[in-house]
Amino acid sequence: MTLTEAKTLLQANGQEHVLRFWDTLGPAAQAALLAQIATLDFAAIGRMQALLRDAGKPASQAAPFEPAPVEAPEGDALAAHVAQGQELLRQGKVAALLVAGGQGSRLGYDGPKGAYPIGPITDRPLFWFHARKLLGLKRTYGKPVPFYVMTSEANDAPTRACFEANDYFGLDRQDVFFFTQGMWPALDPQGKIILDQPGHIFMSPDGHGGVLAALDRSGALADMAARGIEHVFFFQVDNPMVDIADPLFVGLHAAKGADMTLKVCKKREAHEGMGVVVVRDGAYAMVEYSELSDEQMERTNPDGSLWLAYGSPAIHMFSRAFLQAEAARHMPLHLAHKKIAMVDDAGQTHKPAAPNGYKFEKFIFDVIPNAKTLVTLAFDRAEEFSPVKNAEGNDSPATAKRDLQAKWRRWLAQAGVTLPDTLPVEIDPAHALNAAQLKDKGLQIG
Ligand code: UD1
Repeated sequence: MTLTEAKTLLQANGQEHVLRFWDTLGPAAQAALLAQIATLDFAAIGRMQALLRDAGKPASQAAPFEPAPVEAPEGDALAAHVAQGQELLRQGKVAALLVAGGQGSRLGYDGPKGAYPIGPITDRPLFWFHARKLLGLKRTYGKPVPFYVMTSEANDAPTRACFEANDYFGLDRQDVFFFTQGMWPALDPQGKIILDQPGHIFMSPDGHGGVLAALDRSGALADMAARGIEHVFFFQVDNPMVDIADPLFVGLHAAKGADMTLKVCKKREAHEGMGVVVVRDGAYAMVEYSELSDEQMERTNPDGSLWLAYGSPAIHMFSRAFLQAEAARHMPLHLAHKKIAMVDDAGQTHKPAAPNGYKFEKFIFDVIPNAKTLVTLAFDRAEEFSPVKNAEGNDSPATAKRDLQAKWRRWLAQAGVTLPDTLPVEIDPAHALNAAQLKDKGLQIG
């Protein structure tokens, strides 16, 4: 992009202030700024500005909703779904999709969250537990579950380095596909793009909903199609307990011909930070925890149980065809009022004390209302969900290690081994994906 082209584009969109320090920049900074301007999606920026204008207006009363029905198959139905899921895994029709582009700021960890050490004995990283489950699936079913890993600009290189340093955790490199989510600018309250340096536009990741466009742009969707993938297991990086592509979930999703299937579990307490799946105006939707009132969260049924009893741990199945169709649509945007470093007219950068601008994100669950068939599956959180989100307290490394070890102790007990509570436990998922496999294969102490 030339300077003249950049000027024309910025003027046409009311953003000519982006070039106001041009004459003070050296040639390298000028080239970098032009390259950044070339990445700007002004159609998306127009949608951000519209959202910003609407944010000032009084909120319209959102339509009432009901909690979505939850499936919990048992007996023959359960066995049939498991068998179907196992068959799909044997046929190599299932992929895993990990969103790992977030910044992990709440955890206070300076690196990709997936590199965070979580192994109670070995300090192995979150990525190790995810990848070793995929290796376990390949060993069990004879076909790889290709691993699509979304990073962001800030953590792409260290994420790849973590895989390299660990020899891809035993996975075949050709079955791991890294791709990077989009970045876009933040806006000030007047809808102007924010510069954080005289020659640099502040950019932030476009949210985990950016995965759809990124899958398409990177060729990952085409790669899935070429491999004959039909179903995609989606998960977040922060949950070391996740049961990746478990046959029941895969089989239920396939049996129902669903565009999307969501796992849901009982909330720990009314205010737990989990989105809830609801039916609103006859369609399924996710209501994010930040959008629920105290009254909605605390409401109980006549038997005293929570009205919104189930939360979403962000563990989903998608049909590949649905992901492909959704990648071609615009997703709604969500805005967050944030403190963003900004240059003043003298070219000095200031970190504000109070929020001064808006970041925008897309959320993957906004595709829910577009799903023709959608299913929710209840699961036991003690077996599958203990995320690492905070440095301390609930959902911290300490609680995740505690819950992982409690689960492994239950598996060991089922295999006839009881260990003293004081002895730490860690099981390689590539050795045993579940209690039954551990019992079959026995223990290997290493
Ligand atoms: C999220 C869900 C919430 C759910 C909960 C379960 C949102 C908005 N909310 O909350 O409904 O109940 O998890 O644990 O997602 N990520 C990216 N790119 C981004 C932003 C995030 O890849 O631009 C990834 C992160 O790496 C992480 C995941 O998305 O794997 C979740 O992000 P996070 O911000 O931690 O979500 P929560 O607020 O914990």
